[in-house]
Amino acid sequence: TYVVTDNCIACKYTDCVEVCPVDCFYEGENMLVIHPDECIDCGVCEPECPADAIRPDTEPDMDEWVEFNRKYSEIWPVIVTRKDPLPEAEERDGEAGKRTKYFS
Ligand code: SF4
Ligand code: F3S
Repeated sequence: TYVVTDNCIACKYTDCVEVCPVDCFYEGENMLVIHPDECIDCGVCEPECPADAIRPDTEPDMDEWVEFNRKYSEIWPVIVTRKDPLPEAEERDGEAGKRTKYFS
């Protein structure tokens, strides 16, 4: 599966949702997640993210992010249409520790 990671938080560009063939992105207030059981591993969303927030779970230390994506994809509503990014998206692209600030 692919997962959405830290750098989506407070940016939420949403370019990713337009290309997903199975509509498996789910939207929270500050970020999106991917449902790991619905993702077919096609990889087309990864290069679409301006914040480079989408990673394959084959990268090191991704287990935690898979569980994070699973947890919230079961709570949040699906999103299939692109919308405006969050207002501080550009400034906060690359900011460290966003997960701790928003999800601790
Ligand atoms: Fe959707 Fe493919 Fe991205 Fe999985 S890898 S979330 S199926 S676009
Ligand atoms: Fe987030 Fe990147 Fe999609 S910032 S909303 S994963 S395009």
